[in-house]
Parts: sequence; C-alpha cells; structure tokens
Amino acid sequence: MLKIEHLTKIYDNGVRALQDVSFEVPDGQFLVIIGLSGSGKSTLLRCINRLIEPTEGRIIWNDTDITDATDEELRQIRRKIGMIFQQFNLVRRAPVVTNVLAGRLGYTNPLVEPRQPLLRRGQAQGPGKT
Ligand SMILES: Nc1ncnc2c1ncn2[C@@H]1O[C@H](COP(=O)(O)OP(=O)(O)OP(=O)(O)O)[C@@H](O)[C@H]1O
Ligand SMILES: [Mg+2]
Repeated sequence: MLKIEHLTKIYDNGVRALQDVSFEVPDGQFLVIIGLSGSGKSTLLRCINRLIEPTEGRIIWNDTDITDATDEELRQIRRKIGMIFQQFNLVRRAPVVTNVLAGRLGYTNPLVEPRQPLLRRGQAQGPGKT
C-alpha cells in the first residue's frame, strides 16, 4: 500500500508544483497519472522516491515513512522502486520491457545461470523472483 498524505512541493524559485495531494494505492492496483504538461506528474514521482524533498506532507509505503527515511533506509527502499526517466537512459532500439528490466541488472549475478530465462524472444513475461 502506498499512501500519499497532504503532499506539497514548492521549488526554490517559488513554483508550487504540488498542493495538498492525498491518495492511496492498495497492493495490486495499477495507477496511471494523467495531466497537462507542467501539472506536476514528474514532481510527484520524484517526491515518492525522494529524488527531491517534499515541502510538506508524508509518503508512506508499506508502513515505512519514506519522507522520514535515513540515507541507508532510502537506499533499501529505492532498490524496490523502478523508475524510468522519460528523457534519458533509454535504449531506443530495445522494447519497453527490456528497458524496464535493465534496472534489475545491478541486483543479479551475471555469472550465475538463471533457472529460467527472464525473457524469451517475442514472449513478454513478468520479472519473476530475482
Ligand atoms: N527543478 C525545478 N525548479 C523549478 N520549477 C520546476 C522544477 N521542475 C519542475 N518545475 C515546475 O514545476 C511544475 C511541475 O513540473 P513537472 O515537471 O512536475 O510537470 P509534469 O506534469 O511532469 O510535466 P511534463 O508532462 O511536461 O513532463 C512546472 O511548473 C515546472 O515548470
Ligand atoms: Mg514530467
């Protein structure tokens, strides 16, 4: 469960990108955030993994207060969050699923043969337990 409570972000230049945003995402729910350019979508996502610091409000993920996490706790939390940036670090000739799974490479041992290949050619499937 992800809980966003009264989240506000005011950038240093005074732009109020988020104003008192609250919502909950239960486990298993798929949420899409749609809004005009500049409406604050990226700001919200960056606050959730604390790439930027919220001005006010709390972000609770599975009973852990992300807004209150230490650097070490944040490192552990971020290992469980996938984030794809819209402008860079994408391999354009690879499909979306390969770009997404590339983020797991840092947590797998390339010398150990996986019991099952993550992806077979032309067959998209979930990342499995890694
Ligand atoms: N680092 C920053 N410093 C100051 N203002 C910023 C910064 N980043 C974003 N903003 C401003 O905050 C507001 C929200 O921007 P944000 O990038 O979150 O919108 P977005 O919904 O992701 O837009 P897009 O659809 O274009 O990606 C905009 O007014 C933007 O100009
Ligand atoms: Mg954006």
